[in-house]
Amino acid sequence: MPGGNTRTVLHFDPFPFRVERAEGSVLVDVDGHRCVDLLGNYTAGLFGHQVPAVRDAIVAQLDRGWAIGATHALEIELAELVCARFESVEQVRFTNSGTEANLMAIGTALHVTGRPTVLVFEEGYHGGVLSFAHGIGPLNVPHDFLIVPYNDVPAVEAAFAARGASIACVVVEPVQGSGGCIPAEPGFLAALRRLCTEHGSVLIFDEVMTSRLHPGGAQALFGVLPDMTTLGKYLAGGMTFGAFGGRRSIMAAFDPAQGGALSQAGTFNNNVVSMAAGVAALRDVLTPQALIALNDRGDELRDRLNVTFAGAGLPMTVMGVGSMMNVHTPDDRWVALFFHAMLAAGFYLARRGMIALALDVTDEQLDAFAAAVERWAADPAGAGR
Ligand SMILES: Cc1ncc(COP(=O)(O)O)c(C=O)c1O
Repeated sequence: MPGGNTRTVLHFDPFPFRVERAEGSVLVDVDGHRCVDLLGNYTAGLFGHQVPAVRDAIVAQLDRGWAIGATHALEIELAELVCARFESVEQVRFTNSGTEANLMAIGTALHVTGRPTVLVFEEGYHGGVLSFAHGIGPLNVPHDFLIVPYNDVPAVEAAFAARGASIACVVVEPVQGSGGCIPAEPGFLAALRRLCTEHGSVLIFDEVMTSRLHPGGAQALFGVLPDMTTLGKYLAGGMTFGAFGGRRSIMAAFDPAQGGALSQAGTFNNNVVSMAAGVAALRDVLTPQALIALNDRGDELRDRLNVTFAGAGLPMTVMGVGSMMNVHTPDDRWVALFFHAMLAAGFYLARRGMIALALDVTDEQLDAFAAAVERWAADPAGAGR
């Protein structure tokens, strides 16, 4: 593997540790080092590593076969759970990743509108081939992308005024995840809704990360409904997953009984292990109360870290919503220092400073993390020695 790695966001200099196993919320590396997992697999690990209901569902499914190339009951059950959870999703189809879900949603929007242009936002991330962190990513699929600053209503209005008739869809993260856990400002999503309705464009919420912020997703949290929603990450209990869905009138393009203009044939779309894990996770574990409590804990942690950084006079702030947060500084060296100090203290977060809380992280572990941050903030160059 180039770089000894097959998932670029897990690399950090000089080299990442290699995990051997998880014990509850603790990762153990091949050298026996232990650290509390605060990265939560970039939001996909919401349930933690060994939640019994999900584990039991996976094991039970293994006993019933795992390479089934036929439709089966579990995919219907999971589809019903997903549609019940997210108001805009009247019908849904599954994929193997969030990237694939966004590719399918965009392709669908191009098909139903007959238009070529995809409006996206600076710093947006919708997958390895749909990345807008620095303009158009070099590996991006060759759609006609129109990139506009996030949270800038006049810029979106100007884009629609100039090119509205060619805009098939707007793809937006209600909170930009990879872009630093930046929430949509009040009115931004509502403005996108209004402009898409006025111009006949499809509004796509990429809720691959943000659907964890409220039992009904960020669309319920912010009170704005898109035409299509894409999902992924945690929704199959941590197993491989993606989904796209939306209005019945749009999704009808995939219905063979209605002509089946579009085909989505992926080999593993309905893989039974993900379906089984997802049903157990959504039906038995992720109650509205559990999710709300997790996000409340995230809000508390973010406030606490901000008080610590401000009190110490460090040029660092933590942005985010609920259980998703990211450290920001004007100089990335602060984040690097912080990341390595926390790793040395036994806490693993993303190298870019992202934290995604999981259900199995305890209050004691969060207290210990907050205390480690306080010690570091008091002496950033020397802490931990
Ligand atoms: C908002 C958003 N969309 C899409 C994706 C891509 O999902 P996947 O990595 O499952 O392809 C990600 C991954 O981080 C994401 O954060």
